[in-house]
Amino acid sequence: MTSHEFIDIPPLLSAHGTITLPGSKSISNRILLLAALAQGTTEIRDVLISDDTERMLDALRTLGVSVEQFSTTGFRVTGCCGQFANNDANLLLGNAGTAFRPLTAALALSDGHYTLSGVPRMHERPIGDLVEALRALGANIDYTGNEGYPPLEIFPATLTGVGKVAVRGDVSSQFLTALLMALPLLNSTVTVEVIGELISKPYIEITLAMMGRFGVIVQREGWCSFTVVAGSRYMSPGVMYVEGDASSASYFLAAGAIGGGPLRIEGVGSDSIQGDVRFADALRQMGARIVQGANWMEVCAPLSGKLRAIDMDCNHIPDAAMTLAVVALFAEGTTTLRNIASWRVKETDRIAAMATELRKVGATVEEGSDFIRITGFRIQDSGFSKGGGSGSSLNPVSRILNPGSGIDTYDDHRMAMCFSLAAFGAQGMRINDPTCVAKTFPEYFAVFARVTQAVPVIAIDGPSASGKGTVAQRVADTLGYHYLDSGALYRLLALAAQRSGVLLSDESALAKLAAKIEICFSGEEVWLDGTQVGNELRTEEAGAAASKIAALPKVRDALLSKQHAFRRAPGLVADGRDMASVVFPDSVLQVFLTASAQARADRRYKQLKQKGMDANIAALLQDIEARDSRDTQRSVAPLQQATGAILLDTTALNIGQAVDFVLAQYQLKRPKN
Ligand code: DC
Repeated sequence: MTSHEFIDIPPLLSAHGTITLPGSKSISNRILLLAALAQGTTEIRDVLISDDTERMLDALRTLGVSVEQFSTTGFRVTGCCGQFANNDANLLLGNAGTAFRPLTAALALSDGHYTLSGVPRMHERPIGDLVEALRALGANIDYTGNEGYPPLEIFPATLTGVGKVAVRGDVSSQFLTALLMALPLLNSTVTVEVIGELISKPYIEITLAMMGRFGVIVQREGWCSFTVVAGSRYMSPGVMYVEGDASSASYFLAAGAIGGGPLRIEGVGSDSIQGDVRFADALRQMGARIVQGANWMEVCAPLSGKLRAIDMDCNHIPDAAMTLAVVALFAEGTTTLRNIASWRVKETDRIAAMATELRKVGATVEEGSDFIRITGFRIQDSGFSKGGGSGSSLNPVSRILNPGSGIDTYDDHRMAMCFSLAAFGAQGMRINDPTCVAKTFPEYFAVFARVTQAVPVIAIDGPSASGKGTVAQRVADTLGYHYLDSGALYRLLALAAQRSGVLLSDESALAKLAAKIEICFSGEEVWLDGTQVGNELRTEEAGAAASKIAALPKVRDALLSKQHAFRRAPGLVADGRDMASVVFPDSVLQVFLTASAQARADRRYKQLKQKGMDANIAALLQDIEARDSRDTQRSVAPLQQATGAILLDTTALNIGQAVDFVLAQYQLKRPKN
């Protein structure tokens, strides 16, 4: 279910299939800027279309660069030879660090007047070290907000001709990237010395490789000093292809490792220049099986099925390492991710955000200034109470909780994508503000849904006494699936209300009660708040009371998450009125099971007699007709055949025939594993 505020990912059973990655953000934005600064026209293919690249494209157009889109992901950029046509512009750069830092450097070394600003979070991300280095070269840059942070106002540079500048390497590698990309705009030889340990070195590799493709070779001494010699000029290489995004690949590699695989990812492989491809090594250490070719990778879960915790320095894969933090939920032992201080100055404080949200799903988390330690669930997989589900044997990952309020994403695309993986726990996952993935991967959730297989649901809806309960139960038994008798939840709530003196018309009180009651099904037994409920649940009075409260929207809402909790591996058969239309709209098979009112009254009569209860056919018929009319006429989730549901009229069928029909339909529709 999708809304503007959240997306509900159903509990996932497995992951397999093939995806083609969108283009890399880091490479797209570097190539776009280099093409704009170069001499000649560059045809760039497979560009990532996302918020961050849109910001770069907008900025280049504003600066007067000719940018022509010739296909969905193809752009023709005619370079300005380092002189932007527009030398007075106001650039809005969102939260795109890969646009903000390099544009700052390129514009600061030109002779125009520019203002650069972003979203509030961008104004909290440091840029002082880059500004200092640029000032040493003669740039005139003012902070218009807080000292050391965007927004910035840039005035024409008064170049100093100095041959050496220093820049810190331990806050963001983007400072060095930005400087290096701008240096060919000068007419002198400049050496950049890196102060402090250079973090995220693989991103510098990308920068150097891209500059090389545009004809500028940077001379370097290890990771300490980089020199661009006088006379270096960017020349268009003609056509450039953007590799798939290796950071985005991490979510699918992780999905295959957790969800079985084989999952094939096309767009990055052993030929990739992106450091994040080494995420695959980390996942291998956790036990995943990964094979790769030049531009593809394929992943399967460990043969044992169990992932192992790791203790790792993640400095070389800062972005993809976030994915490891969530994989740790599924690993045996305690995972420590070290040397990740840069997480604190990214889209959000990622260490704090990750720790908070991992705790919400029940993990034990320790955080330090530059590390995070996560204890997975597999080492202590006993001693927790039974959730919904009819006596299911729960696997260890079912300890992963789905916080009712959802996972918060802090306007950080990686938080949203990471936590989609938590849906491999038994309960599914609600992700708040999912549209933040547009920063790097607007189609993420759709692509993720294509290669992950949700716990299948068979929805059987129909009127009272149509036999759907018996049919559903038998189908569940045959398949070894869980069974949800949703009508029983309404009956139990009505019973709980009567017991605690709540009026059946008091919508708010009923909704509160619904959130509070503890319901447990175990075989034939039904338990309400710790005591077993007997035949009173099956009386006509209980049914009529249930029908009454079922017309109240708040009651239906309050019971929704209780019904979702029954969806557990290996599958669920759910019966009710709105299983297909509201509760499990993504159910694999939807059946609308009905019979004439007379046939249903006859069946109910026999059922009650068998249980030794009092019954009268005429009264039963009247009851059924009254209930039909209330259930079909209520305004919220009225009883009706869902659009995709198959109609099964059982008036002339026995139970066995109806069960066989449903099973046969399911064989046609069930997901192939
Ligand atoms: O299936 P049943 O007779 O046990 O259901 C009792 C009442 O609960 C029924 O009259 C309508 C209501 N109900 C509902 O509105 N939605 C469901 N999914 C299941 C039952």
